[in-house]
Amino acid sequence: MNGDAQSLASEPLPGGADPGGCPADRGAAPGARSAGGGAAPGARPADGGAAPGTPGCPITIDPLVGSLAAETEALRTAGPLARIDLMGAEVWTVTTHAEARRLLTDTRLVKDITRWNLWRDGEIDESWPLIGMVDAGRSMFTVDGAEHRRLRVKTAQALTPRRLEELRPVVERVTARLLDAMAAHAAEAPDEPLDLKSAFAQPLPMSVVCSLMGVDPALEPRLHHLYEAFFSTLTPQQERLAVLRELDELYHDMVRRKTASPGDDLTSALILADEGGEPLTAEEVRGNLEAMVAAGHETTVTLILCAVRALLTHPDQLRLVLDGQVGWEAVIEETLRWESPSTHLLLRFATSDIEVGAGGAAIREGGTGGAVIREGGTGGAVIREGEGVAMSYRAIGRDRAQHGEDADRFDVRRPAPIRHLAFGHGPHICPGAGLSRLEASVALPALFERFPGLCGVAVAGTRNRPVLTQNELESLPVRLG
Ligand code: HEM
Repeated sequence: MNGDAQSLASEPLPGGADPGGCPADRGAAPGARSAGGGAAPGARPADGGAAPGTPGCPITIDPLVGSLAAETEALRTAGPLARIDLMGAEVWTVTTHAEARRLLTDTRLVKDITRWNLWRDGEIDESWPLIGMVDAGRSMFTVDGAEHRRLRVKTAQALTPRRLEELRPVVERVTARLLDAMAAHAAEAPDEPLDLKSAFAQPLPMSVVCSLMGVDPALEPRLHHLYEAFFSTLTPQQERLAVLRELDELYHDMVRRKTASPGDDLTSALILADEGGEPLTAEEVRGNLEAMVAAGHETTVTLILCAVRALLTHPDQLRLVLDGQVGWEAVIEETLRWESPSTHLLLRFATSDIEVGAGGAAIREGGTGGAVIREGGTGGAVIREGEGVAMSYRAIGRDRAQHGEDADRFDVRRPAPIRHLAFGHGPHICPGAGLSRLEASVALPALFERFPGLCGVAVAGTRNRPVLTQNELESLPVRLG
């Protein structure tokens, strides 16, 4: 039995998400407030019978990320479109591969926060803990259509397979430096466990993305600290807004200096780019730089850590890889599917009503709220104009209709290609997918080659950090052997 299945057996579903009905005593998330057309978190709808994951009975996404396994199961049961409470904001989330593929290319869903009913109605404002991930300034992350293509094209060109090969020596150099430091630690304190996250998985992607964007390496520890605070749901909102201001200033300053004296890096290339006579503004360069650094490190940290954890807890599969019977690529793709580094990605907004799940029996009768839910079979749910929609990538990676009845099982022998959506789909598909695969394909074999006796210390007890958008481990203690 894998770790996930074990934890499922013993953990309650989040938000009291008993598929039998909306529980009256479900507690609201810390700091949460009622928002949107549905009832306040914890309230039982008037008819008393709405199923979890429907309007008026949202599944509360646990800001402390106490149990991803149980949460994924609750979302899957409620899907393909489930109503969730995201720290006080009631929105939809998509939980299946097929619907995610469809909706991620639906131009009626946009990133523009001014289309969100909760924003327009003043229900959501700067005090919402996740606001910095939705109202993140102008960048490729927050616009759509022709404007999106203009903001994205130069970055995408810098990450083609050929250009990535030029980055390989950087990835190899940083990997070797970190492994040397770990070996020195092992020589000095052979009995002391080492946190693989802080010693290896965290600094590698940060150094690589900073090198790509031309960020001064001396800033890396500060950036790491700022992003930790930014993403943590436990950070008080005033402190998070101060973090955002500091990041803004830091990146503004960087763009100013590179405009005066461009270097051989992607930020300078964005400054100098002349997209059909429409160069990016300083604000747009700053936004893209910030999007790249923010999106370009934690996700890859998670990919590397979750791959190592999966192998350490499935030693038979590790043996297959070390014996050369299965390639590292299979480990990387299966980890991306099984432990999607993005958990709930924020947010798109409907510019008109959109029907979801038509014909699908998975939609059950709902109660009150902004959307109409018809009974399964012929109907579906309607995302109403103005409503917010997230993508629950972890549930999508475990979709049994897409990946089979054993979707909860980690199995590096799964037939390739594994068609997962860990990097999204459609116009906003991750431009850094190739880079993160390159990093993992260098880091993982190098790690196990340098430390063949690597083993986990109480790996089954590893916990997630309180981060809603990423599947981020607190730490991963190991002995190097
Ligand atoms: C395992 C690693 C990674 C995962 C799982 C991942 C996942 C994703 C996903 C799911 C999206 C789509 C978001 C949406 O639908 O709106 C995305 C977008 C993005 N990612 Fe990644 N990412 C990873 C690594 C990276 C890296 C290394 C970089 C940069 C070097 C990067 C930069 C971006 C940017 C800038 C976007 C926004 C693209 C747009 O909106 O057009 N990501 N990523």
